[in-house]
Amino acid sequence: MEVVILKDADDVAVHGAALVEAMLRVKPQAVFGFATGGTPRALYRRLAERQRAGEVSFSRSTSFNLDEYLGLPPDSPQSYRAYMRREFFDRVDIDPAATHLPECAPGEDPQRVGPRYEAMIREAGGIDLQILGIGHNGHIGFNEPSSSLASRTRVKTLTPRTLEANSRLFDDDEFQPRLAITMGIATIMEARRILLLATGEAKAAAVAGLVEGPVTAMCPASALQLHERVTVLLDEAAAAKLRHRAYYDLAYRENRALKERFGDFYAAD
Ligand code: PGA
Repeated sequence: MEVVILKDADDVAVHGAALVEAMLRVKPQAVFGFATGGTPRALYRRLAERQRAGEVSFSRSTSFNLDEYLGLPPDSPQSYRAYMRREFFDRVDIDPAATHLPECAPGEDPQRVGPRYEAMIREAGGIDLQILGIGHNGHIGFNEPSSSLASRTRVKTLTPRTLEANSRLFDDDEFQPRLAITMGIATIMEARRILLLATGEAKAAAVAGLVEGPVTAMCPASALQLHERVTVLLDEAAAAKLRHRAYYDLAYRENRALKERFGDFYAAD
């Protein structure tokens, strides 16, 4: 696990965008796993700027989002499809037909969505780069604590803590779903590379569990310790509870020197 501690949330976005661009340089037809939430917004804004400047193109890329609410009315502005359009898809040159979320059509059995989504990911050749945030409780996607580390895309019940964290995005009279369809932890672990972003002190405890805690279903992000290629980008506040911080800084400097000498991270595949 590469842990990179940066000054602030802007630096996290700039650094994250550079890694997405590096992937696209090597593989313009890359398959991305995208995340929603407050954290990746700045990353998407930065990538949209870079696309407008002609520095990057998503025209040959495909994407699969981590999760989607279950039970929202079609075209709800609260859906993660609507979020992705607003924050990213409508701002870049990605083909809308190549963007996927685990959506359940009205009347469809939600239990069928997961296996179908998994098959679509496989048919696309698997995810090259999965972008993740992390919940206060250590969740990735909507894999709440106690999710099986072997889980696949499926329906999940959200915890009261997650509902509360997300309630800020819903008006009082608006329906807030308690269920979602999310990629499972095993689905996420199959991505070839993973880029997790976390900013702000409210994430510090979850980040400590992810990087330094035991691998446990009670902190689903800790499963990433078993993945070969994970980069964790943190601002100072999110890194505040890490015990081995000096080592991560040292290792980052050494790795950067190696990459400058021998070429970039992604080229090695
Ligand atoms: P946030 O959500 O970026 O809005 O904090 C992260 C998550 O719950 O995965």
